[in-house]
Amino acid sequence: MIRERILVIGASGQIGVELTLALRKMYGNNNVVASDLREENELLKGTGPYVSLDVMNKEMLHVQVIRQNITQIYLLAAILSATGEKNPNLAWHLNMQSLLNVLDIAREEKIYKVYWPSSIAVFGPTSPKQNCPQQTIIEPTTVYGISKYAGEFWCNYYYQRYQVDVRSLRYPGLISYKSAPGGGTTDYAVEIYHEALEEKQYTCFLKEDTYLPMMYMPDAIRATIELMEAPAANISIRTSYNLSSMSFSPKEIGAAIKNYIPEFTMAYEPDYRQSIADSWPQSIDDSVARNDWGWKHEYDLERMTKDMLENLRK
Ligand code: NAD
Ligand code: SER
Repeated sequence: MIRERILVIGASGQIGVELTLALRKMYGNNNVVASDLREENELLKGTGPYVSLDVMNKEMLHVQVIRQNITQIYLLAAILSATGEKNPNLAWHLNMQSLLNVLDIAREEKIYKVYWPSSIAVFGPTSPKQNCPQQTIIEPTTVYGISKYAGEFWCNYYYQRYQVDVRSLRYPGLISYKSAPGGGTTDYAVEIYHEALEEKQYTCFLKEDTYLPMMYMPDAIRATIELMEAPAANISIRTSYNLSSMSFSPKEIGAAIKNYIPEFTMAYEPDYRQSIADSWPQSIDDSVARNDWGWKHEYDLERMTKDMLENLRK
């Protein structure tokens, strides 16, 4: 049996912190090496090894992979949709080159498995708005979405041509209370809980009726690990799997919060992120993930809201 040694790149980010902690629980603290350009996140301190690493520096990345005897890589470093529109060149460069560096090293070093997330942002205005299927018209209009679309096909290419076992999920907007989100269009759905508790008021940068696919972080972490643990024979999609749990609008999440904080009020000042949100589907059909490797979500808006508020109050 292989003794797993896992490298998480982008471990100080919104997903990275929780995924690193979950992997450490499964594989042992010392077998999961966290890495990031940023300082180590406070929540990771003392829980296992951390290296400061720029994923764009392929040589240094390669050295770390060999030195640490890495068998699996989780690549989470990226620039997300809203920040990407402010600096398209940087977003394209980081999102593409980081993936190519990792895939190339995985091929050379015979890395056993690679994980790289895609996003609902691969879809564009011509994709179906409701229950957007796994295979459909995909014409993204953001640089982030273009990079995810190209990335999905690089993953498929490395699997087909070099047998690199790379697996991927198209995450919806992710909501969490541990580590802050890093510049996405769906970040409002995290900010709103903080502002509801602190200010009893939130001004949303999207219109009240903007529906988007969303997911609570515990579901996203579990989906990631279940996909990575699934037998290779069950993985029929080598680009990236649609993944879904809930879909709501700012008005609906506001109403869910009001059940716990009756004095909470909302205002709306849509900005440039509105057109990004409008280009994405409102809900996702993830039946292929459910059939292939048994995906099943646990959290809906009500259950997530209760858990978010309880944990943020702590
Ligand atoms: P994040 O911005 O919170 O974290 C990304 C981390 O990568 C940061 O800690 C950052 O310091 C690090 N990083 C940036 N450049 C780096 C570099 N050159 N070298 C090493 N590290 C670097 O992002 P996240 O929300 O955790 O997203 C992780 C992945 O999941 C990304 O690929 C993102 O596109 C994808 N995703 C996220 C969401 C979401 O809602 N959070 C939804 C869909 C897809
Ligand atoms: N949450 C992400 C974003 O808004 C979706 O990939 O950019």
